[in-house]
Amino acid sequence: MSFTAGRGAPDADLAACRVSNRRTWRRKCKPNSKKPYPAGRLATRWSRPGQPGLGSTAILSVAGRAAQLEAVKRRIPMPSYYSEKLSAERLKLCYDLGPPAVRRYLAAEIEYVRERSALSKRVLELGCGFGRVLKQLSRAHTLLVGIDTSLQNLAMARGYLEGHGNITLLLMDAVRLGFPSNVFELVCCVQNGISAFHVDQHELFREAVRVAKPGGRVLFSSYADEFWENRLDWFRIQSSHGLIGEIDETRTADGIIVTKDGFTATTVTSERFMDLTEGLGTSRSVRVVAGSSIFCEILV
Ligand SMILES: C[S@@+](CC[C@H](N)C(=O)[O-])C[C@H]1O[C@@H](n2cnc3c(N)ncnc32)[C@H](O)[C@@H]1O
Repeated sequence: MSFTAGRGAPDADLAACRVSNRRTWRRKCKPNSKKPYPAGRLATRWSRPGQPGLGSTAILSVAGRAAQLEAVKRRIPMPSYYSEKLSAERLKLCYDLGPPAVRRYLAAEIEYVRERSALSKRVLELGCGFGRVLKQLSRAHTLLVGIDTSLQNLAMARGYLEGHGNITLLLMDAVRLGFPSNVFELVCCVQNGISAFHVDQHELFREAVRVAKPGGRVLFSSYADEFWENRLDWFRIQSSHGLIGEIDETRTADGIIVTKDGFTATTVTSERFMDLTEGLGTSRSVRVVAGSSIFCEILV
């Protein structure tokens, strides 16, 4: 693995922490430096012999913990329910507790993305959590990048993805990606991440399309209507294990789950997906997958 300085970061003051499954590098970002980065430091350009690199993509960095926290405060949204209460082991337990129908739904989502990533050299997952999806997508010839706003999730992903040297993890907000345009053949955001992020969804799509290459794809998933009872059943199980609060039955209906401690999980309908993606890419479509997800696909 070699680390060399690259050209300027697209947003040099955006700070992020690169969490590698081998080690963590941190350095002050020097966008115009031509010097090779010493081992143990974060590079603005990453290349690895025999593996597709990120080109001039900035792997962003920080001077130290204080600077990191300051930058994170400025750039990363306020702690969400996911980062506060549903990260790392607790997030994993949610998935481990999934009944058979939910496991089939989760497997079908990954299979769908895997098929579409077959020819991709660079794949980006938005909101990668502890690496559940990245692990399944991992292939030797593909460079996978996972970004998430939860440091706890990324820290857990380091261990969970141990041995997968083709996967890079970054602390980054999906609506403020620190990559140049036209980098990835596939950008994906599964498991209803679009709703879980609680961000401006138009902005989220625009950013995803921006970093995708011409000819590449952007995939977002949400829940299919017909999966509602299974989804609710799964959330009730999570609630009974104390992972989320008590379900607020009076406010839970029609694709929206609300708990009494402030958690709200919504969905994105086909119509909404078409509305959000209007004018983006060369074509776009929405389809139901396995009777459990809807996938919105944009060809860039
Ligand atoms: C429902 S979990 C899904 C995790 C992973 N995609 C999976 O399917 O296993 C949603 C993830 O999105 C992350 N997240 C929330 N807001 C985000 C944002 N603005 N940008 C990137 N990730 C975010 C959370 O920290 C959490 O890991």
